[in-house]
Amino acid sequence: MTGQTDQTGQTDQTSQISQTPDRPTLADATRGRILFGGDYNPEQWPEETWQEDVRLMKEAGVNSVTLGVFSWAKLEPKPGAREFGWLDRLMDLMHANGIGVVLATPTSSPPPWMGRLHPDTLPRDEDGRTEWWGGRQHFSHSSATYRRYAAAITEDLAARYGSHPALRMWHINNEYCTYDWGDEAAVTFRRWLQDKYGTLDALNTAWGTAFWSQGYGDWEEILPPRHAHYMKNPTQVLDFKRYTSDMLLECYVAERDIVRRHSPHLPVTSNFMPMWVGQDAWKWVREEDVVSVDVYPDPRDPFGAQNGALIQDMTRSQARGPWMLMEQAAGPVNWRGVNHPKPHGLNRLWSLQAVARGADAVCYFQWRQSRQGAEKFHSGMVSHAGEHGRTYREIKQLGAELACIGAEVTDSHSTSDIAILHEWNAWWAGAQDGRLSHEVDYPQVVRAWHRALWEAHLTADFAHPEHDLAAYKLVVVPQLYLLTDAAIDNILAYVRAGGTLVCGFLTGVADEDDRVRAGGMDERLRELFGIRTLHEWWPLDADETAECDGFRGTLWSEEIEVEDSVAGVVAEAVYKGGELDGLPAVLRKGRAWYVSTLPEPAALSDLLAGVASGAGVGRVLDGLPAQVEAVRRGDVLFVLNHGREKVTVEVPGAYRDLISGEQVADSVELERYGVAVLSP
Ligand code: GAL
Repeated sequence: MTGQTDQTGQTDQTSQISQTPDRPTLADATRGRILFGGDYNPEQWPEETWQEDVRLMKEAGVNSVTLGVFSWAKLEPKPGAREFGWLDRLMDLMHANGIGVVLATPTSSPPPWMGRLHPDTLPRDEDGRTEWWGGRQHFSHSSATYRRYAAAITEDLAARYGSHPALRMWHINNEYCTYDWGDEAAVTFRRWLQDKYGTLDALNTAWGTAFWSQGYGDWEEILPPRHAHYMKNPTQVLDFKRYTSDMLLECYVAERDIVRRHSPHLPVTSNFMPMWVGQDAWKWVREEDVVSVDVYPDPRDPFGAQNGALIQDMTRSQARGPWMLMEQAAGPVNWRGVNHPKPHGLNRLWSLQAVARGADAVCYFQWRQSRQGAEKFHSGMVSHAGEHGRTYREIKQLGAELACIGAEVTDSHSTSDIAILHEWNAWWAGAQDGRLSHEVDYPQVVRAWHRALWEAHLTADFAHPEHDLAAYKLVVVPQLYLLTDAAIDNILAYVRAGGTLVCGFLTGVADEDDRVRAGGMDERLRELFGIRTLHEWWPLDADETAECDGFRGTLWSEEIEVEDSVAGVVAEAVYKGGELDGLPAVLRKGRAWYVSTLPEPAALSDLLAGVASGAGVGRVLDGLPAQVEAVRRGDVLFVLNHGREKVTVEVPGAYRDLISGEQVADSVELERYGVAVLSP
């Protein structure tokens, strides 16, 4: 534990996620400009195209490219061989043209020779099937052979380019996301478990192996949770998820330490997938100098902007400062069932939305749309239509606009008065087989609560349940099925110190071993909300709702008996009709609210808006039209119109629009997808 203890005995969790002190930061790479560019895969193109690329990059204001992400076979065509000439030429070309390089280690896609010569580098799925080469990410995090090759190529890359003047940042691997149930993974899983539990007795107790005759008498008997006849041991599965995240982190740290040795002056990152289940990002960000993420909302999704905002809010909170939008799509992706392009203006709007929420880098997958390979229908900044295509024209406009606002916004950070608590162990444990409802999906529940705040024009941070929450006026818990004792103490201390809490159903059910707490919900939490007995959970079918005072509940309902001897417990809404008639749906004891269902969107939004206002949380702007979002970053006010209609927005005061250069007083007009970036 790296957190410090203050006089109240409270752990200061802030220091647990702040990045290593004295390490370079994103500011060392941006140098006062917003990084603009993307993954550049010139190995797919003849060298004549490189010249054309550079011309178009400069015209578009591209100042950063990410090289090398999938270039292992090109760099090491045979075991131990090195082909650096092409990369030398590229690094020099970028430098000569004033374009910075984020250099990736190529370790997410090993060359075919590796799988052929070393089948032990290939992961196995839970059914024992090998994941062969021919796609990407076919590496086992546990393979000593893979790790040896990965370290060697990283070492040579870092030695060769670590001081290159074009280099701005290191990018390790790409979207770490592999699992492995194979034999070498079984060995590392056992080692991880030995470190965690020390003895088999402790493991047997934690895993509850008395159930179904699962008691282990020898470490060698323990396997990754492979294909089984019926439901698997949930704590074994939970530990496997924790272990997988830790193993991938080990791979990252090993490469990171190599590049740090060669370029201590440069920051290091690895890009997250948005709200990806496989990596405990709270743990990972402690090891990163720059937090970066890939964001791909669906342009057709009516909540695309909110889904993007959620990831941006989460990443800003993890970074505790500016962060990097490593990848987004300039147009369509090609991995949905149907892949829609972005209508005119949407790419600009969502890019500026990311800047408003703290991004100091707006980058894409990828620079030039491929003509071959699995992603040839995925957009690029330069689409198949080329420089005269709409996509590139819009990219050029965005590049120019980002250059106008960079100096005023980079390196500034804003926090919110509201925190949403989110945690991976709770997600993992709550998503197990054998639960009462498969309709309850953790990310959807988190999205629903974030959406409720979004629709109330309230911006929120995300926080880990053990973080110091003192800075927040309102803390909301969409759902934390598993909570450690430390997290419960932290939440109780927050309310005791005057904080306001709104907590959703299925929270505090299990301890960190996924053991159901006595009474079905931790007794300290029950006391906090004034719940005497939680008699039964009543999950709802997909098309079922529960009638409550003034709204309908979805997904879930609960048979709760209130602690009526305690003064101050208020049923703010009750169930109407059915088995739960008259029982509380929304409970409040002082500043602690408990919501035992998922209210329909408008009702949850109204509820949270009311509680926020009671807790003294203000909005950035009042009276905003429904589709308009206002976000403050430092002193700069971003007003974003997510609607297709022109709107007029009241903005009391006088400002300069950093994009148009015009003076704005008291109101601003925004076209469809329009954005104003206002400096006081
Ligand atoms: C990301 C990945 C990129 C590219 C992109 C397509 O997940 O890092 O390499 O595949 O998706 O949307």
